Amino acid sequence: MEALKGNEVSFGLLFDTISHAVWVYDADTLNFLLVNNAAVRHYGYNCDEFLSLKISDIHVPNQIEEKRALLEALDPDNPSTGTWQHRTKDGRILEVEGTAHAFEFQGRLAVLEVSQDVTERKRLETELAQAQKLESVGQLAAGIAHEINTPIQYVGDNLRFLQEGYEAGSRALECYAELLRAAETGSITPELLSQVRQTLDECEVDYFGAELPKAVQQSLDGIDRVATIVRAMKEFAHPGYKKKVGADLNKAIANALIVSRNEIKYVADVETDLGELPLVMCHIGDLNQVFLNLLINSADAIREVLKDSDTKGLIRVSTRHIGNQVVISISDSGCGIPEGIRDRVFDPFFTTKPVGRGSGQGLAIARTAVVDKHGGSLRFERNEPQGTTFIISLPIEPAASPTLEKEEDEVIAGARI
Ligand SMILES: Nc1ncnc2c1ncn2[C@@H]1O[C@H](COP(=O)(O)OP(=O)(O)O)[C@@H](O)[C@H]1O
Ligand SMILES: [Mg+2]
Repeated sequence: MEALKGNEVSFGLLFDTISHAVWVYDADTLNFLLVNNAAVRHYGYNCDEFLSLKISDIHVPNQIEEKRALLEALDPDNPSTGTWQHRTKDGRILEVEGTAHAFEFQGRLAVLEVSQDVTERKRLETELAQAQKLESVGQLAAGIAHEINTPIQYVGDNLRFLQEGYEAGSRALECYAELLRAAETGSITPELLSQVRQTLDECEVDYFGAELPKAVQQSLDGIDRVATIVRAMKEFAHPGYKKKVGADLNKAIANALIVSRNEIKYVADVETDLGELPLVMCHIGDLNQVFLNLLINSADAIREVLKDSDTKGLIRVSTRHIGNQVVISISDSGCGIPEGIRDRVFDPFFTTKPVGRGSGQGLAIARTAVVDKHGGSLRFERNEPQGTTFIISLPIEPAASPTLEKEEDEVIAGARI
């Protein structure tokens, strides 16, 4: 009996020193039966208040049904885990990861649940993902500036040419006006005619007449190009929405190709074969990052085989709609992935590139985005005679999972370009 009391004391001590909220509630009525100190601290209800509540009272309303379903299916031998949103007494929303065990407590079926507050971790993860994305835009910034500078330069040249053309045109018009005045007063002289002829020759009217429209067209094309690059960057760097939204992945790939053009164009030609795709429910910001990481890896791998030769390699990007999946492949004629490192390329910080060039994060980030966040797959194959193909498969509709997406349409806080 004494020993049992000792056990109870140790259990109580353990229960109350655990830093996560722990509670026991009735599996049928969902009434709280026991809560620990951490629950009181994190949720703001005192012990008595807690004991007058049900577990469903602290869940956000749109998750209660799912929670009930999960509890009904709870198997005593198999604890169930889920990510939930809880509401504290003062209305704050906590993101929690909960593990629920069914067991017998004081003669009835009850649930022991441990809830870990992961609000801060989730916020940091979101910030980190956004920071990584902006970092890659930052790394590409010099190339993008160059891409923008080229059209800006010829738009500038063309505007100067237009100015010259306008001045020549004005001079020619003045000349004609003088000729008209002379014609009206009947005072055209051979000297005047030859002077007009000479001025018109100097003004190169025919030349400007033929070239100016081309310069205007080229300038408009240049401005379109700049607008396309800026739009691609903006879409690329957009922090994204908390919930998945339907996105056009062909457009995302086109954007990634624009943003990385300066990294690729000196080492490889790009062939795209983009099939018709349905909108894919996804976090497009994460997938933008995946496409970019794979394209940059392909360019790096090709640069590795080209060394100083002045030929170019090839990057092929294709997209297909197959069943309820979208399959994207990015293939290169690069150095390939040696047998010995095939198992390690997805490891965080694994890189074969020199310091400053590779961070070893690209494929790790890509795998988290594709596999963990979208329930897709990411794998690679060897190309014959050389090179690598990375293949991404993504479900068009996300599979139902206990990890609920948030309903609000709110944009995750973060920098915007
Ligand atoms: N397309 C590719 N061709 C050859 N090797 C690749 C390719 N993609 C990735 N790798 C290999 O995988 C490693 C890890 O890639 P990644 O995670 O993107 O990091 P990083 O590019 O910074 O090295 C690379 O260093 C490289 O050895
Ligand atoms: Mg990389």
